[in-house]
Formats: sequence, structure tokens, C-alpha cells
Amino acid sequence: MKNLLVHGANLATVDQGRGRPVLLVHAFPLDHSMWDAQVAALAPRWRMIAPDLRGFGQSQVSEGTVTMEQFADDLAGLLDELGIDEPVVFCGLSMGGYIGWQFYRKYASRVRAMILCDTRAVDDTPEVRAGRKDMIDRVLHEGPEPVAQAMIPKLLAASTIASHPELVAGVRRVILSNAPQGIAAALRGMRDRPDATDLLSQIRCPCLVLVGKFDAISTLEEMRSIAAKIPGAKLVTIAGAGHLTPVEQPTHTTAAMEAFLAGLAETG
Ligand code: MLT
Repeated sequence: MKNLLVHGANLATVDQGRGRPVLLVHAFPLDHSMWDAQVAALAPRWRMIAPDLRGFGQSQVSEGTVTMEQFADDLAGLLDELGIDEPVVFCGLSMGGYIGWQFYRKYASRVRAMILCDTRAVDDTPEVRAGRKDMIDRVLHEGPEPVAQAMIPKLLAASTIASHPELVAGVRRVILSNAPQGIAAALRGMRDRPDATDLLSQIRCPCLVLVGKFDAISTLEEMRSIAAKIPGAKLVTIAGAGHLTPVEQPTHTTAAMEAFLAGLAETG
């Protein structure tokens, strides 16, 4: 991994492959490794950039709140540090998608296309905000264990949990390795994020909207409605997956991404 100083913080990133850049933005509370299968499969034709967001994985932890806009600014700074000035394919899952909306609002000219996986455009309801507060208190007092316990049944489909203990263990390991302060800062940022529904009809780049059929956080119905609002967006449903499509169904997810990327390559 490369380590780069971005806006005063050390950020770690995978930078692998050759070709036009694809920026892979991970979900909460994970790190870049959720994209390992896609990086390995697509790096022969695309430059795959998969950072650990501020506060996660090997990147520096910030206390307080990290807003979705600040994460987006970090990503723009990261691309600058990598010398990438051509527009990227922005691929974000869940919190990575929340960051994607802010990235597009601020840096549309740096976006060639978007892959929006298992994400939401609406902001948090009061109930969800209250749940975030509870989780912030718990992670700061008890560490990431209660976060892992609460999140895993929502991140993974029941069938994945039943038949792939190694995937469950891998997701759990990543969650437990993250710093409580980093998890809390992102929870505050997600809690305070603005509603992005108004942005959807203004998006003017090719978009792939991808969702696991059994996603319990960003449901198929909700993702269908996001795709319907983005002009020209294509919706792909991944069978046998919950919220973490790239981890639960790496082959099918990579194939959907590859087909979309190949279509972009044809249009130049
Ligand atoms: C994620 O997968 O990034 C989170 O579940 C998003 C959220 O908690 O809203």
C-alpha cells in the first residue's frame, strides 16, 4: 500500500494496475480489503485505487466528526497526490456511496462515471440517528466488538452467514481492527449527512446501480428508486448477496462492474 499525506492526515491506499483510474470507496466500518477481488480481477485493464478512508484500516484516525464532504475532499486530495487529474470512475458502497454524492456535488468534472453499490440517497431518520448515538457511546466505551455484533447480520445475507463462516470471520476481523475513534467519527458524519435525493436527477455521467438482492440496509426497492431517478442509470441485482455484494458474490459483482467498465472503454 502507498502512504500519502492528504490534508494533514496520512492515508493508505492500494494503487494497482494500469489504464484509466477506478476509485473504490469502502463501506462502514470496513477498509479497502472489501475490494480485494475486484482489484485483482480488474487491475490488468484498469488502475484500481482503493484507499482506507480516514479513521479506517491503516489510515490516520481523526477525532470528532468526519463528514461525508470531508471524506470526499480527502479523496480529491488523494487523487492529486497520486497525480491523477483525469476523471475517475467513482465506485462506492453504502457509506462509500454517501461520499460519492458529495464527491459528485463538489468535483463533478473529476467523475467519468459512477458505480453506486448498496447505498442510500436519503438522510437518517430520527430513529436511525438515535441508533448512531447509541453505537457511538458503545464503541467509545467497549471498543468495536458491539459494532461487529450489530452490523454483521445487516451487512451479510443470512445465506452467507450460514454457509460462509470464513467470510463472516474476515468481515469481523476487519471491523475489530478499526480504531473506536475512527468508527465514532464516521458514525457522526453519517448521522449528520444531508439528503442527496435532489442530486440524483442532476447526475450527468454514466451510472451503474448495483444491489444485493437481500440487502437489509439499502433495499432492492430503494436502489431501484435511486436508479430510476438518475438519467440513464442501469440497475443490476446480485443474487445470493446482502449488503456487501463485492465480498459475498465477488465473481458476479466483478462481472457486472467489468461489463459496465467495458462499455465506458468503448465510448472512449
Ligand atoms: C455501510 O455499509 O457503509 C453502513 O451500513 C451505512 C450506514 O450505516 O448507513
